[in-house]
Amino acid sequence: MRILVTGGAGFIGSHLCERLLGEGNEVVCLDNFFTGSRENIAHLADRPGFSVVDHDITEPIQLEADRIFNLACPASPIHYQHNPVKTVKTNVMGAINMLGIAKRVGARILQASTSEVYGDPAEHPQRESYWGNVNPIGPRSCYDEGKRVAETLFTDYHRQHGIDIRIIRIFNTYGPRMRENDGRVVSNFIVQALKGDELTIYGSGEQTRSFCYVDDLVDGMIKLMDCESGKVHKPVNVGNPGEFSMNELALKIEAALGKKLQVRHLPLPEDDPKQRKPDISRASEMLGWVPTTTLSDGLDKTIGYFKQRLESSGNS
Ligand SMILES: NC(=O)c1ccc[n+]([C@@H]2O[C@H](COP(=O)([O-])OP(=O)(O)OC[C@H]3O[C@@H](n4cnc5c(N)ncnc54)[C@H](O)[C@@H]3O)[C@@H](O)[C@H]2O)c1
Repeated sequence: MRILVTGGAGFIGSHLCERLLGEGNEVVCLDNFFTGSRENIAHLADRPGFSVVDHDITEPIQLEADRIFNLACPASPIHYQHNPVKTVKTNVMGAINMLGIAKRVGARILQASTSEVYGDPAEHPQRESYWGNVNPIGPRSCYDEGKRVAETLFTDYHRQHGIDIRIIRIFNTYGPRMRENDGRVVSNFIVQALKGDELTIYGSGEQTRSFCYVDDLVDGMIKLMDCESGKVHKPVNVGNPGEFSMNELALKIEAALGKKLQVRHLPLPEDDPKQRKPDISRASEMLGWVPTTTLSDGLDKTIGYFKQRLESSGNS
């Protein structure tokens, strides 16, 4: 199959491109390299069937594909808040442009949505039926509301035009090729620990998140895309239901590195959710998907990646 992956040079996208190529598909990676990098996909460059299109999804484009994975969007607060209007455009105009391609060529299309559509949730754990608690005018809204509108667009293209859509609500994902300086907690803690700096904990550190290893997520994404038509046009949560506080995560990293780490507490950012944990019953019943990588194993692999990066940049 010919598969278009927007945001294919990013953290998750590069793993997805790699897996799809490995399964014998032709893969077109479309990216504007805002938060992604050529380095993330350098190991794929010479693989037969792999091509790169340097393009911004807010602009229309004519492409042919059997399937589209729409991942293009900066995912960390420092990047999506850098130019909030652009973030909304990427989510909304990007979705319209990609849905337009799907409509024209009859492709199946998957939207990378997010647990952020639940906002600061009043229900715990979050099921797909929960409508969320999102501030429409806060500093995170360009991302949260942008992703919510994208879900609306996908659903309306399905209802109105019969497009074969998939919506995956991704919960915190971590692994090799995360950026070391984008403020996401796993990469933040690991890089600070490896450099011998204090770990930054916002608030008391009792707020919780669930962390899914990137290989498990990619597995769920492909299962959802492959799922037979007619079965899944509703959103599907994909994440690891294991729930850890920031303090517990710091202890896990301490154990993995075998050294005592110092922490520094800073005020909690505005609208920071207190709890996040996916209910994955829908994914497990419909797709037979459950995550299989433990936090300790995933952290070991991620620490290995950052160690190598810091050593090669002379920064360890
Ligand atoms: N990583 C997570 O924990 C997580 C959680 C929930 C949802 N997601 C979603 O998964 C997707 C991928 O996330 P990621 O963690 O790999 O982030 P990332 O920032 O590493 O990847 C995003 C990619 O999209 C590209 N991009 C951004 N704007 C673009 C535009 N206008 N046109 C073309 N390309 C553009 C970037 O250059 C980058 O390569 C995003 O849509 C994100 O919202 C990620």
